[in-house]
Amino acid sequence: MMRIRIRKRLVITAMMPIIAAALVGFSGEKKMDDNLKWWQKTNVYEIYVNSFQDSDGDGYGDLNGITSRLDYLKELKVGAIWLTPVYESPMVDNGYDVADYKKINPRYGTMQDMEHLIFEAKKRGIRVVMDLVYNHTSDQNKWFIESAKSRTGKYSDWYIWRDPAPDGGEPNNWRGIFGGSAWTWCEARGQYYLHTFAAQQPDLNWENPEVRKALYDIARFWIGKGAGGFRMDAIPYIEKPVSFADGPVDDTEGRASIHDMTVNTPGILDFLHEFKNQVIKGHDVFTVGEANGISADQLDDWVGENGVFDMLFEFSHSTLAFKGAETWCKPDEWTLKDLKKALRDSQAATADNGWYPIYFENHDRPRSIDFYFGAHADRALAGKALGTVLLTLRGTPFLYQGEELGMTNVHWDQLDTYDDLNTRSQYEIALKEGFSPDEAMRFVHRFSRDNARTPMQWDGSEHAGFTNGVPWLPVNENYTAVNAELQSAQPDSVLNWYRGLAAFRCEHPVLTDGRFEERMTESDQIYAFTRTDGSEKLLIVVNFSGEDAVFSYDALGIGGAPQVLLSSYGFVPAVPDTLRPYEAMVVSY
Ligand code: GLC
Repeated sequence: MMRIRIRKRLVITAMMPIIAAALVGFSGEKKMDDNLKWWQKTNVYEIYVNSFQDSDGDGYGDLNGITSRLDYLKELKVGAIWLTPVYESPMVDNGYDVADYKKINPRYGTMQDMEHLIFEAKKRGIRVVMDLVYNHTSDQNKWFIESAKSRTGKYSDWYIWRDPAPDGGEPNNWRGIFGGSAWTWCEARGQYYLHTFAAQQPDLNWENPEVRKALYDIARFWIGKGAGGFRMDAIPYIEKPVSFADGPVDDTEGRASIHDMTVNTPGILDFLHEFKNQVIKGHDVFTVGEANGISADQLDDWVGENGVFDMLFEFSHSTLAFKGAETWCKPDEWTLKDLKKALRDSQAATADNGWYPIYFENHDRPRSIDFYFGAHADRALAGKALGTVLLTLRGTPFLYQGEELGMTNVHWDQLDTYDDLNTRSQYEIALKEGFSPDEAMRFVHRFSRDNARTPMQWDGSEHAGFTNGVPWLPVNENYTAVNAELQSAQPDSVLNWYRGLAAFRCEHPVLTDGRFEERMTESDQIYAFTRTDGSEKLLIVVNFSGEDAVFSYDALGIGGAPQVLLSSYGFVPAVPDTLRPYEAMVVSY
């Protein structure tokens, strides 16, 4: 068996990744495909507004805080920031319960602050992407307040109202995504209303043209303000089935998952085509759908030439621990091969049509180092390994705040310390399913959404430089060791690895649009793939295990004289035929 031969003289260390890009001399040799849109050629960065940067000392992140950090984002080659909802909201689900879509939440600032942020971002080539919560509103939205008053009136048909079942109980056995019944009783109407999520998040009735008109008007309003795109929240649930029959029971309370009953209901695409044609068409903005339950084989209907959106967040890799309903207390086992298959399928689905965002983290998932590697892994190496995959797969990388620092999960002893409503209900579900309080807390530690929502770790000062006041959620206690200021000064930090790779991606168009081909699919240690186009061939090899992993020229099936351009260890032995624990390398051949 032949081994990969690496020329020593071209070994570039992780400490000099930008220099690496220049040295190998591909910069400018191949022009990026001109047909690509701006959002295919950039990185997007998700900001969980509550936790990014506080500027006024109230303990919550805000818009002026974001504006003050735009230069930091520039260094990560970010071309768009996606803000979690900034609209007026009672904040039961931290903004995903919207009271008024055209007003800014006073906690975050004013409309003037928003306009200032859009302006300052634009000056730096960064567009602002708004989160459109279209499936539901807050129960404090004036539409719902009116709708709940009576069965007749302008808004009476704006939500999903049903009479009680013949026995006076709930109309059916559906369970909301956060647990408990998906129905809540309204005395004034003598009816139940449906909520896919919390009771304070009533689902809108998309069958009503007036509802659609009002929703479309909101998107137009934000396009008018200069928004660069929209992330479409919980979008596969907007259409409900004709029949509201009971679903198959899958819990000890006799309920069925609402996800299984309503996801991707036939007819949904008609609404979304209407949205695309009436609102998006003709504007230079992108749309990305949050699409739990839309699989790779359904993709052509959703993205690409005949699709409704530009991109779709696909869930198969991020929900490896949950098949179907996300009940934390019944996690599935999974292996690297399952992860590789999920990524392979999504890469294949968009090879000829459509485009995916690439992501490992967002505000609904635990931190990726913990989820994909486990607490035992070396934090910095694991962070670099995942960052390498994130920034070298085909698609638009979506980074999540703190991911570029290798931020990790928190382990709080008291449930009360957690803010997230889903964390609390998942804890209750675990108890109902017969788990002990200790076991229920273990699920919380593993999967809580608050793991990713702790304040951004900017520096080693009190509260990690996030706020001068008391942070709304405690800072992860590792902030003195894991923070942006420290990592900026450390050449081999996770942050500098991300910065270097982001620059490398810009210099190597093959990483944007080149062909993807997986290698060593059967390896349960190594994730390897190539990215190739007419002028360049790159191999990415990542060791997902904590042990050495042997690789070979034969197994990888690459020819030529391979040269290591980047290694997450910063240096490479003369003839590497072994990846060190969690090592990631980018090789040209
Ligand atoms: C989406 C959001 C999540 C929210 C839910 C309800 O999944 O990402 O944070 O709780 O929708 O709006």
